[in-house]
Amino acid sequence: MSAPHSFWLQNPPQESYPPLQGDVTADICVIGGGITGLTTALLLQEADVDVILIEARQIASGTTGHTTAKITSQHDLIYHTLIKRYGQELAAQYADAQQTALEEIASLIQRHSIDCAFERQNAYQFTELPRGAAALEREYRAALRLNLPAELLDSAQLGPLNLPFKPHQALRFTNQAHFDPVAYTRALARIFIGLGGQIFEQTRAQEVLPGEVVHGNGRISAPHIIVASHFPIRSIPGWYFARQYAHRSYCLALDGTDPFEGMWLSIHKHGKSLRMHGNTLLLGGVDHMTGHQNHRSHYAILRTYAQTLYPQSREIAYWSAQDGIAANSVPYIGSFSDLLPGVWVATGFAKWGMTNSMTAAMILRDSILEYTNPWQNIFSPKRPPTLDSAWITLSSGARTAANYAAWPFSRQPVCTHLGCRTHFQTEERTWECPCHGSRFDASGVPIDGPATKNLDLGP
Ligand code: FES
Repeated sequence: MSAPHSFWLQNPPQESYPPLQGDVTADICVIGGGITGLTTALLLQEADVDVILIEARQIASGTTGHTTAKITSQHDLIYHTLIKRYGQELAAQYADAQQTALEEIASLIQRHSIDCAFERQNAYQFTELPRGAAALEREYRAALRLNLPAELLDSAQLGPLNLPFKPHQALRFTNQAHFDPVAYTRALARIFIGLGGQIFEQTRAQEVLPGEVVHGNGRISAPHIIVASHFPIRSIPGWYFARQYAHRSYCLALDGTDPFEGMWLSIHKHGKSLRMHGNTLLLGGVDHMTGHQNHRSHYAILRTYAQTLYPQSREIAYWSAQDGIAANSVPYIGSFSDLLPGVWVATGFAKWGMTNSMTAAMILRDSILEYTNPWQNIFSPKRPPTLDSAWITLSSGARTAANYAAWPFSRQPVCTHLGCRTHFQTEERTWECPCHGSRFDASGVPIDGPATKNLDLGP
């Protein structure tokens, strides 16, 4: 079988952008040409600021090109947890930011007539087991307290939806959406260029300093630098590699299924995600921490499930995605660190990058232009630590210590981030670091940070 390749990246881009040669200056440098970097660059360029964006590979070729692209404020069972951990006021900031982001994306698409298969759909979280009902009911009550468009449905109400599986109960958020994330992001790039912005592909940031980004062929001087590179490429200060963890998930695109309404996500561990794109079913799931996969084929598990649902279906693409999960699944958006003035960050989107991309863009634009923003506190990288954030940091330290202890007994290549031994993942043909989630292709070139330098694979 051919190598994994995302359904969204099957059409080559119509535009390409040159690599950056030498030194340049700008008001703002954005690192990362995914949906977050492009949205932020566009909002700032619209505000008449001079923005340069650099991307290590191609626009939308990273996590943006590998998502299931659900544009929704329904983010797992987050709202009950947010109220419990941070209180009603901060939880309401999160909810309002996501609903606003959804409508901002819709309005941007309409304003610029972007052809990206944008479609309004309801979002559902479901359980097939009676024991899952209590968690959905708790989340439903939390969503109502935050004015989210939530409804709780039982199996009798769900029956007419003609689903290939049998939910016992589901929590529905109405009037959400999905789209083609690559068509959207490539369109943002064209609009950004039309407004005078500059994009450089195949330009990897190697170092971030106050007022300066070092890349392979020179330096970019800019008073503001936005790190939208998925996992921040600078480790200290900020310590983002120890404040979030990397997670992987897998996806199939299938033809020959019966279309159904809505975007569906099971609430159970390793639960499946299902949504239609036209007549194609996108089936995802089987997630795990990067570098900690079990030895069964992840795609085989999904294929078995697909055959159960639709024995007549035909697979047309398969691929995987990597995401950063921040404490309590709330992204870090704001100032990178007091020790790096003028440097900004957006990371840890916990698999909900579509609305969070717009949320990040609005917060970063407002912060840089010194406008007030109603949501910045809940996303602030300086928000007080919680039990969850302490647990993530402790676990990260423990994983690294365990890897160092086993170091002399292994001959696997050494990760260029902090020196852990990597593992080779045969399904993806990638080197993965179990400490903080860096990934490298078979020849050792970084795919996912925090590492930025090639693996030494020896002679
Ligand atoms: Fe940190 Fe590999 S990602 S040591």
